[in-house]
Amino acid sequence: MGYKPLCFGLTCILFAYYIYTPMPENIEEPWKATILEKTGIKRFDELFSIIIKLDYTQPISDENVTVMDTTFSDIPVRLYLPKRKRESQRPAVIFIHGGAFVLGSYSDSSGGTLAAGVTQLIQNDPELKHKLKAQALIYPGLQVVDLSLPSHRENEHGPLLSWKLAIKLACLYLTQDKVLPQAMMKNQHMPHGSMQLFKLVNWSTFLPEEYKKSHVYTEPILGRLNPSYSILLDSRLSPLAVNDSQLQNLPLTYILTCQHDILRDDGLMYVSRLQNVGVKVSHDHMEDGIHGALSFMASPIYLKLGIRIKDKYINWLEENL
Ligand SMILES: *[C@@H]1O[C@H](CO)[C@@H](O)[C@H](O)[C@H]1NC(C)=O
Ligand SMILES: *[C@@H]1O[C@H](CO)[C@@H](O)[C@H](O)[C@H]1NC(C)=O
Ligand SMILES: *[C@@H]1O[C@H](CO)[C@@H](O)[C@H](O)[C@H]1NC(C)=O
Repeated sequence: MGYKPLCFGLTCILFAYYIYTPMPENIEEPWKATILEKTGIKRFDELFSIIIKLDYTQPISDENVTVMDTTFSDIPVRLYLPKRKRESQRPAVIFIHGGAFVLGSYSDSSGGTLAAGVTQLIQNDPELKHKLKAQALIYPGLQVVDLSLPSHRENEHGPLLSWKLAIKLACLYLTQDKVLPQAMMKNQHMPHGSMQLFKLVNWSTFLPEEYKKSHVYTEPILGRLNPSYSILLDSRLSPLAVNDSQLQNLPLTYILTCQHDILRDDGLMYVSRLQNVGVKVSHDHMEDGIHGALSFMASPIYLKLGIRIKDKYINWLEENL
């Protein structure tokens, strides 16, 4: 501990600042330019590679578990294999990490998007005979159809994950075109012909009363973005934006949401929609929760909240796998 996590934390802050406020052509803040020049960091991909290097931990085995790195179809995978033999079949967990689709190997948010999307694909594919027993989603992002939910508005400036930063990072996964994040920030990114998705992510219908507060529902604006991105209609990006018949085959589900998180309402709405079609859902809501807390369980950024979330998640897995 010490040097590495500190560098990592500082790099993340620098990165967040850098991506949140891109340097204009006529540089108004020379000190920022100086820091970036002195560190030689001028491009996203250089920052990414620094963050990924700092985030990397060696696979270390112990007396009970063999840990090794490998690839499944070119995707880097870390395997944790118990050493002790067992007669019966073991449960297995596939953990898909977060990192806004583009960086690190954290537990936040986009791992939950991917897990929810993969679960839908597996459960709804008649060719696949082996189905999943359960899915567990930790502060997942579950849709990009409506980017003006009460939780987006209440937590626009963070903590940790601001609404603008989340949009910018998620857009890097989709395109280099700057018009997409700009349209998303005005909630006018959805293409013509996507109106049927609005009712599937309608917070005014699916959010429990206590979270609606005085917010007023306004529909996203259609067809302003040119070119239009058909990827925005893809349910792998918005697992919440599928109809009831695609939800009813889903397995036992665990969802953890945090109060102070832009993604809170995605999770809350998924709880409602799954319960409406009869899927069994366990839901933990952290009243003092912030996005990404599970990534902060070591010094110098140590949050007891991270430990509490980890314990809830592990306990649920132990009881339900
Ligand atoms: C290995 O498993 C045993 C038995 O469960 C446990 O007592 C021991 O602490 C474990 N070792 C490590 C390094 O976790
Ligand atoms: C959203 O829900 C509200 C309340 O249930 C309803 O009045 C409104 O028409 C809905 N809008 C869409 C696009 O589903
Ligand atoms: C639900 O969506 C799927 C995939 O888009 C579609 O094939 C199916 O017809 C829809 N079902 C209903 C009841 O709308």
